[in-house]
Amino acid sequence: TVSNADFLATVATKSDGAALRGDYTHADEHYVVQQNWAAYTEEEHELWRKLYQRQMSLLPGRACDEFIEALLQMNAANGIPEFEKTSKELYAATGWTIVAVPGLIPELTFFEHLANRRFPVTVWLRKPEEFNYIVEPDVFHDFFGHVPMLFNPVFADYMQLYGKGGLKAMKLGGLDQLARLYWYTVEFGLINTKDGMRIYGAGILSSGGEVEFCLTPGTTSRHIHLDIERCLNTLYKIDSYQETYFVIDSFQELFDGTAPDFKPYYDKLKLGEAFPANSLLPGEVELLP
Ligand code: PHE
Ligand code: FE
Repeated sequence: TVSNADFLATVATKSDGAALRGDYTHADEHYVVQQNWAAYTEEEHELWRKLYQRQMSLLPGRACDEFIEALLQMNAANGIPEFEKTSKELYAATGWTIVAVPGLIPELTFFEHLANRRFPVTVWLRKPEEFNYIVEPDVFHDFFGHVPMLFNPVFADYMQLYGKGGLKAMKLGGLDQLARLYWYTVEFGLINTKDGMRIYGAGILSSGGEVEFCLTPGTTSRHIHLDIERCLNTLYKIDSYQETYFVIDSFQELFDGTAPDFKPYYDKLKLGEAFPANSLLPGEVELLP
């Protein structure tokens, strides 16, 4: 587990020696900062508009209705949004708020925010040369990708329980397992709808290439129905398109499936080997052959 002190040490240097990008000097003990909206430049607002337009040229018919409808209500097309304004609307809808953070934050802090229905959003925007690909999450990924789904009451409740589950997993030694669930649902989740398979995962929704790729039949990537234990035990790729997508039939299914106590999973899975990202196990059905 990463304590805040450990994390502060890694703020100076990550494993590859590069510094985290954000300015952590003004953060409070929960890593919260001011968004300082007035400091964004016109070039940054213009880059946001281009990112927004490109995504919106890809998302109709691919993103789930819940995402599209909430995004349109957020009026975020014209430049980097003011968190405060959307935060009030979000609070009225589902009791969640948005807090501004300098960038990546320690796991403990992240889980505490989620458990209290606060979603941390990074304040800085990528550079123009990072239009298609960015390593650390920026304001476009965090705000455009994640915030719309928090307007959905069932998904909003799932995110809070995930935060509580994170605090519990830290005590039980289940963080590796639980992080996979976040990755394969919140970041890269797909959902079956009456109109076909759709995207709800923020990592895809904010990505240029994966929006199309993840819904294309016949690729080498798997699309299998979400099974919680299987997902907790599946490794993931951080530097390429996903090799497995887990598909749900409804957000209620996601909520109900993750409600049981995970301790038995952690106890069992920590002893064994995780499945590689590209596994298809006996009996599993490829949903997008
Ligand atoms: N039910 C999980 C546990 O007992 C907590 C959890 C809920 C985790 C929802 C993820 C999502 O640990
Ligand atoms: Fe994310």
